[in-house]
Amino acid sequence: MNCVSFSLTPDPMTTTQNASPTATPLHALNTRRSFKFLRAPAPKPEELEQILQAAMSAPDHGALRPWRFVVIQGEAIGKLADLALDAVKRSGDPRMTPEKEKSVREWMAGVPLFIAVAQKIAHDNTKIPEQEQLLATGAATMNLLNAVHMLGYGAFWSTGIGTYVEDVQNALGLDALDYRFLGFLAIGTPACAVPPANRPDYREFVTEWTGPV
Ligand SMILES: Cc1cc2nc3c(=O)[nH]c(=O)nc-3n(C[C@H](O)[C@H](O)[C@H](O)COP(=O)(O)O)c2cc1C
Repeated sequence: MNCVSFSLTPDPMTTTQNASPTATPLHALNTRRSFKFLRAPAPKPEELEQILQAAMSAPDHGALRPWRFVVIQGEAIGKLADLALDAVKRSGDPRMTPEKEKSVREWMAGVPLFIAVAQKIAHDNTKIPEQEQLLATGAATMNLLNAVHMLGYGAFWSTGIGTYVEDVQNALGLDALDYRFLGFLAIGTPACAVPPANRPDYREFVTEWTGPV
């Protein structure tokens, strides 16, 4: 498992390990960071329910509920690894070398829970543009990531594992004609302490508009 440890003692206020990451709700939002290398335990069943319920509070034009999530855990993770890696190899992707396959298999074997994310395309809806359905699904997924963090676990959104190979989403029951597949959330307990993420100053991204120039 390729987990690069951080040598300082983790600060429980700024990492999710042993965490009390929710000193305040804003502190929780500001300290979320991704953890790729994860191990058991995964969130308990009742925590997973809370995490999934959090997605239902995403903003959603027209109440289309376009988000779909597929929970993958236990032995199903090995089956997903087999299926996705075979599909990627069949697709002829030159990046899927034997070394890459080995490292993906090792990574997936350590992760106790995956949630596949998709947008159900409302083909007949002429009022809500598809991009808004996609944004609602992204917002719902962000709620999942924040809820995972607030419960003291770690997560990583990946569009690897054959996300862009149609056979993979079809095998998950997400027919490519009706669903836009958006990847996988790996979820579990961070396998190693990492430093807090370095975030930019919001001023670089924000202007105030006071009227026409
Ligand atoms: C839709 C989406 C797909 C992503 N796919 C990958 C991926 O396949 N591989 C990867 O290294 N990072 C991927 N990332 C980025 C990581 O999930 C993560 O956000 C990034 O490493 C930065 O970490 P942070 O969330 O702590 O800022 C993806 C992010 C998003 C939003």
